[in-house]
Amino acid sequence: MLRTEIMDGEQAIARGAERIRGGDVVAFPTETVYGLGADAFDRDAIRKIYAAKGRPSDNPLIVHVADKSQIDELARTVSLQARTVIDAFMPGPITIILPRAACVPDCVTAGLDTVGIRMPAHPVAQAFLRACGTPVAAPSANRSARISPTSARHVYEDMQGRIGLIIDGGACDVGIESTIVDLSGDTPIILRPGAITPQMLADALGRVETFAGEVVVARAPGMKYKHYAPDCPMVTCADREKAFAAYDRIAAQGGRPILLCGTDWTDAADGRRLICLGDDARAVMRNIYDALHRAQAQADYIVCQDFGDRGAYASVMNRVRKASGGNAL
Ligand code: TXA
Ligand code: MG
Repeated sequence: MLRTEIMDGEQAIARGAERIRGGDVVAFPTETVYGLGADAFDRDAIRKIYAAKGRPSDNPLIVHVADKSQIDELARTVSLQARTVIDAFMPGPITIILPRAACVPDCVTAGLDTVGIRMPAHPVAQAFLRACGTPVAAPSANRSARISPTSARHVYEDMQGRIGLIIDGGACDVGIESTIVDLSGDTPIILRPGAITPQMLADALGRVETFAGEVVVARAPGMKYKHYAPDCPMVTCADREKAFAAYDRIAAQGGRPILLCGTDWTDAADGRRLICLGDDARAVMRNIYDALHRAQAQADYIVCQDFGDRGAYASVMNRVRKASGGNAL
């Protein structure tokens, strides 16, 4: 068992970068979720990421950069469409899939001919990546199939004893993983929805498609795995009275249910236990993973409001539906 340290400030960034250059893994904050990083060019260090997460090795990693010039080193070609996305949304909560350059190791891309690249906007992430002096491959800093971490404490609870250092940069402001857009072909395709919405991408690019097919040969291989699952059963429900009835049924059986919902449900909740997610899509996005972490610690049954698919709510519901395994009332 490793001793897991949590540090913040300048010292944490210096120590983290030292560890990365020494071939170790480090958890660090970004504006989306916390990542578990390693030197993207160090195969042994990359293997430590897969081991710490318990991640299947056919699921590729995103490479994080501090500087746009590093994108040209990692990609074989950067199309005009890709330049448009880079100019409009980077740094920020987006990952672009581009044809990979020969320098990117197979273990990072899981053998694919493409590479995912992200430039986070979080000031601590930027300072850390600059101090590392190398692109940093990083998945989210949770064990495979568990809820993604949006605070240093979430990382600690899940990865304690498996990694040596967590850089604490506070709570993540965006709250769910980056939008992934595949720009390796002629048509831009959204592989994973996030804070950068299809509408925002369509406004910048003129057109964009959303990958909706069945994942057989995976486009984003991560999509075929079970994801974001809490420790207890979870259902979603769009109808408030039905959700309350489900809660009451579990409570009457001696269970410990909890409601995850927006402010429009909280006033009517009448003493039922709940975690309020906020009153707009950005707030719900920022709070959803922390709420899931807290809910699974306090309850044995989660009833989550279905917010529908308008605007950024669609990205939140993408994660919530995976967390609930598609169970809807
Ligand atoms: O916001 C984020 O993207 C966070 C922070 C840490 O940057 N990272 C993150 O990484 O969510 P991860 O590994 O949990 O999810 C990355 C997803 C996986 O589903 C993976 O299959 C997909 O990106 N992916 C990575 N490289 C790819 C590629 N070349 N082609 C298609 N999908 C790729
Ligand atoms: Mg993940």
